[in-house]
Amino acid sequence: MKQSSLSNIVQPFHVMELVKQADALEAEGKPVIHLSIGEPDFPMPQPVQDALLQAVSAQKSRYTAALGLTELREAVSNYYQTAFQVDVPARQIVITSGASAALMYACLALINRDQSVLLADPGYPCNKTFVQMAGGLPEFVQTQEEQNFQPSWEDLANQWTQNTAGVLLASPNNPTGTQLRFDAMREIANGVREKGGFLIVDEIYQSLCYDQAAQSILQLSGAPGPDTPLVVINSFSKYFGMTGLRLGWMVVPDALLPAIERFAQNLSICPNTPAQWAALACFTPETLAICEQRRQIFKARRDFLVRELPNAGIELHSTPNSAFYIYAKAPYNSENYCRDLLEKNWVCAVPGKDFSQYRGDEMLRLSYANSMENLELAIERIHQFNCG
Ligand SMILES: Cc1ncc(COP(=O)(O)O)c(C=O)c1O
Repeated sequence: MKQSSLSNIVQPFHVMELVKQADALEAEGKPVIHLSIGEPDFPMPQPVQDALLQAVSAQKSRYTAALGLTELREAVSNYYQTAFQVDVPARQIVITSGASAALMYACLALINRDQSVLLADPGYPCNKTFVQMAGGLPEFVQTQEEQNFQPSWEDLANQWTQNTAGVLLASPNNPTGTQLRFDAMREIANGVREKGGFLIVDEIYQSLCYDQAAQSILQLSGAPGPDTPLVVINSFSKYFGMTGLRLGWMVVPDALLPAIERFAQNLSICPNTPAQWAALACFTPETLAICEQRRQIFKARRDFLVRELPNAGIELHSTPNSAFYIYAKAPYNSENYCRDLLEKNWVCAVPGKDFSQYRGDEMLRLSYANSMENLELAIERIHQFNCG
């Protein structure tokens, strides 16, 4: 059948092949431990579950405004004030179907056909797709393990050309579990502004950080002014454990709001209505306390893996201090290594290929969205596999 050229551009997730193999092994009764998972292993917080059920039984299931429920936009605005001491007016907050829709709308509103967009490598695989769907050309900027896989303004400026429209970054990042330093973020924001480009900062893992307080670029810049081409992306998926409810948000400069609203109206009409009502329960002290407890659990797991991985033959040269990922060098070609580790010792880690154009074959991603008991077992098995 004839298909569009866009359908040929979209890349598959190579990791899915490995996960299929892991599923087949599990079906044979092998006790596979997944270090492959990109979502919290905790259930949705109870107050959010209760609010969701309440919303459904109160028939709160009709379309909302395309930009989201006013109540939820106000709640997110209050959250920026209380958690980050930044004043972000509710009108600049747009509720979306996950960070995914927010990234798509931002790219559609900011990129012209054949303009290039700088993306940090390694990074979230779908970012290049969002850029391509908007007609842009993803341009990967290689980052170094010793710099926590985050680009400096110098790295970005070196690849900036007449054709560059802007930069899309994530901090904390997936697959690296590392953050941009505040001073580096400031330099990047200033550099991009001087070049007249846009800056999209994905803060989806913002509150899952373990060595310092959560931060937002908005603490540096304040809410984007009418002509400041800064868009901040966030989500209820990770910190609030609501991956399947498909809800996120974006902070948008006033001048961009009408375009974002038109994209939202046309592409999804509105975000999931019961999920929006449920998300109002995220900002209660009860839910925030549950999320904080979970953050502490993630921290203990991170500490354990950072301590034990080198003893098990996996060296780390970066400081994974956020999200729930560790990105490390595989002992040999990462695709072969991950396949062998899965087949022989039933640990499913993810090769770097999906995340990196440059060193994907060398690197692997380990997720600690799994119980401490399973992580301990995984370390034993990795040790046995690597060290005999
Ligand atoms: C860096 C990053 N951005 C965006 C997303 C998409 O998240 P959402 O579930 O909010 O659409 C993910 C999901 O894994 C991610 O890792």
